[in-house]
Amino acid sequence: MQLLVTGGAGYVGSTLVPMLLDSGHQVRVLDNLSHGGESLLGVWSHPGFSFVIGDIRDVAVVRAGLIGVEAVIHLAAIVGDPACARQPELARAVNLEASLSLLAESKKAGVSRFIFASTCSNYGKMTDPDQVIDETSELRPVSLYAETKVTVEQTILDPAETDGLCATSLRFATVFGTSPRMRFDLTVNEFTAEMFVNKHLVVYGEQFWRPYIHVRDIARAVQLVLESAVAKVGNEVFNVGSTGQNYRKQHIVEMIQACLPEAAVEYVRKQEDPRDYRVSFAKIEQALDFHVGHTVQEGIVEIIRLLQNGVIKDFKEQRFRN
Ligand SMILES: NC(=O)c1ccc[n+]([C@@H]2O[C@H](COP(=O)([O-])OP(=O)(O)OC[C@H]3O[C@@H](n4cnc5c(N)ncnc54)[C@H](O)[C@@H]3O)[C@@H](O)[C@H]2O)c1
Repeated sequence: MQLLVTGGAGYVGSTLVPMLLDSGHQVRVLDNLSHGGESLLGVWSHPGFSFVIGDIRDVAVVRAGLIGVEAVIHLAAIVGDPACARQPELARAVNLEASLSLLAESKKAGVSRFIFASTCSNYGKMTDPDQVIDETSELRPVSLYAETKVTVEQTILDPAETDGLCATSLRFATVFGTSPRMRFDLTVNEFTAEMFVNKHLVVYGEQFWRPYIHVRDIARAVQLVLESAVAKVGNEVFNVGSTGQNYRKQHIVEMIQACLPEAAVEYVRKQEDPRDYRVSFAKIEQALDFHVGHTVQEGIVEIIRLLQNGVIKDFKEQRFRN
């Protein structure tokens, strides 16, 4: 298929794009390179790869990007609660308005599939700590980031709005692991780097739950959805992760301590965290036979090896954070 991947230079995109090219798809990336473009060096000369520099808020750029495209994978966003809180107008314009406009332009351009990168943050805080949340559970977004994702999802899931386009929303668990664009502002990556480099970590609210997934598994899930029967994925939402990889922050720390026993950890008690959720991934397992291939422990070892070998010298650099 001829694909358009928005945000393809990002953390998820730069792992996904080579995977799609390896499978024989033609991949066009549309990205404004807000975190740089070195992540695309490995695919730049691939015959199936093309690139459009620009902003998804610019309709002319979007139209140029959509020429001849059969499927859109929409990753571009202002990503994460802190980044959206810092620039709320930009977050609304990119995550909400430009996403809806991209969907409308995709329909006009005759695109047949549209995959939207959403987030498990949409669930907000669980009401019942013993409950495992699934796709039918109530959404209680507690940040502008999640609010924008929830609003776009409503359109993706409404057949009257998508009008024949096979649209799917994927609620990603929190991602970890190494990717051509590295992020060290994600729990597993950040905790591991702090404990390896600084030998000290401060953890706020160690009791709160979240699901985790390796970046390569996210990429595999996106590709699986892209290649699944329309009847299975059209106007559907899937949590993407694995039920066995729901962890408290303390569990993550304990796994890192098993590799780095000399690092000191300080727990700061916190009663409130707006994001506290345990998620079921049974739907994607049963409907699409998706199973993760990488554990959090593997991700921790990857990050340690990356830093140990000096591949990344300073994980605190701004370009590794959103
Ligand atoms: N990483 C995670 O843990 C996680 C979890 C849940 C959901 N997601 C979702 O997955 C998607 C990818 O996340 P990521 O971790 O790769 O983030 P990222 O910040 O690394 O990548 C986002 C990419 O989008 C591009 N971009 C941003 N604004 C743009 C604009 N206006 N026009 C064109 N390009 C623009 C950036 O330059 C960047 O390359 C996002 O939609 C995010 O909400 C990520």
